[in-house]
Amino acid sequence: MSNYAPLEVSFIKGNGCYLIDDKKNKYLDALSGVAVVNLGHCQQDIVKAIQDQAAKLIHTSNWYQIKHQQNLAEKLCKLTDMDRAFFANSGAEANEAAIKISRIYANKKNIKNPIILTAKKSFHGRTMATLSATGNDNVKKGFAPLLEEFIHVDFNDINAIKKHINNENIVAVMLEPIQGESGVIIPDDNYLNLVRKICDNNKWLLILDEVQTGIARTGKLFAYFYNNITPDLLTIGKALGNGVPISACLAKGNAAKLFTPGSHGSTFGGNPLVCSTASKVLDIIKRDNIANNAVKMGDYIACNLKNKLVSSEKIVEIRHKGLMLAIELNQDCSSLLQQALDNKLLINITGKSIRLLPPLIINQKQADILIAKLVKIINEL
Ligand SMILES: Cc1ncc(COP(=O)(O)O)c(C=O)c1O
Repeated sequence: MSNYAPLEVSFIKGNGCYLIDDKKNKYLDALSGVAVVNLGHCQQDIVKAIQDQAAKLIHTSNWYQIKHQQNLAEKLCKLTDMDRAFFANSGAEANEAAIKISRIYANKKNIKNPIILTAKKSFHGRTMATLSATGNDNVKKGFAPLLEEFIHVDFNDINAIKKHINNENIVAVMLEPIQGESGVIIPDDNYLNLVRKICDNNKWLLILDEVQTGIARTGKLFAYFYNNITPDLLTIGKALGNGVPISACLAKGNAAKLFTPGSHGSTFGGNPLVCSTASKVLDIIKRDNIANNAVKMGDYIACNLKNKLVSSEKIVEIRHKGLMLAIELNQDCSSLLQQALDNKLLINITGKSIRLLPPLIINQKQADILIAKLVKIINEL
C-alpha cells in the first residue's frame, strides 16, 4: 500500500554504523532504523544469539511457560525497579497495554468516563487508541472518530496538568520523557518529578512511554533514571531487540496486578527468539558501557556542531540528551533528507529540525564524519 514513500535506496548489508546499498555504496547511519539498532547493525553477539536460539526453538505460545520470557521479565524489572512485564511486538502495542491497564484501573474505581492526560506534540503509536493518545493532528487526519478519553496538555507545563486535579475522571498521565517524533523536545529537569507528585497526590497512574528514549538512547538505560522517580507503567520497544520485534509494558505495584488470565494477550509477544535476543541486548548494554558512550559521543557531536555552525544564521537551536539530537533551523529543511542521502548519510527531518539517532556505539572518527557531512549540507541549504 502507499502509506510509505521510501527514498530511492535499498540496503542489502549492515555493519555497525554503516549500511551498504545494492550498488555497493556505503552510508553512515545516523538514524538507526529510527532508534532501533542502538548496538549497531548486525552486532556479532546479537547475530549469534539469534542464530543459536533460532536453531533451538523460535516460538511456542503463551499457553505454555516460556523460560526466556520469565528471565527477561526478571532482568527488566530488576533494572527498572518495576514488578511485572507484559510482552508485545511494537511500541504501539506496549502503549495499548498500558492504556488497557488504565481502563481496568478506572473501572475498579467506578469511573465511567475515564480520561488520560497526554501531551500536545506527543507520539504514542498508530493503533486507534495510541493514535487517540498522540498529540499530533497530522497523523490523526482521516481517522475520526477517535477514542475520546484523552485530554492533551502542553508538554513541560506543570500548571497545564495541575488544572485538571479536580476532574474526577482523570486516571493517568501518559508522557514521553523526551518527545522524539516532534523533534527531540527536552523538558525541564524537574518536570517528571513534579508530574509524579501530582499523580501520587491524586492517585493517577504515571505512564512513561520510553519506546524511543529507552535502552540507553539518552545516556541512561531509561530517561526517567535522570529523575528520582518510578512510573506505574513503563513502555519499551524499538531498541529492546536491536531489530528483532519486541516491546514490553512493565508495571509496578497495584498497576501490575490488574491484568488477569484472559484479559490481554499476543500470539507472538514474548516468544523464545525475541526474548533471548532482548536479554542479550541488555547484557551488552551493560558489558560495553553503552550508556556512557551515548553521553560522551552525544556531548561531542552537539558541542562540535555548535562550534562549527556558530556563525550560521540558519541555526535556531541544537538540542540533545545522550545520542538523541536535533538541530532546529529557521526554515523548512525537508530537502536535506535527499541532500544527506546524496552525501551517503541517513538522517530524519521533523518540520524545521534535523533529528539524529545514531547507533550508540558510534566512535569519535565516525562522529567527525557525521559532523562534517552535516555542516556541509546545512551550509549548502
Ligand atoms: C515514543 C514512541 N512511542 C510509540 C511509538 C510507536 O512504536 P511502533 O512504531 O513500534 O508501534 C513510537 C514510534 O516512533 C515512539 O517514538
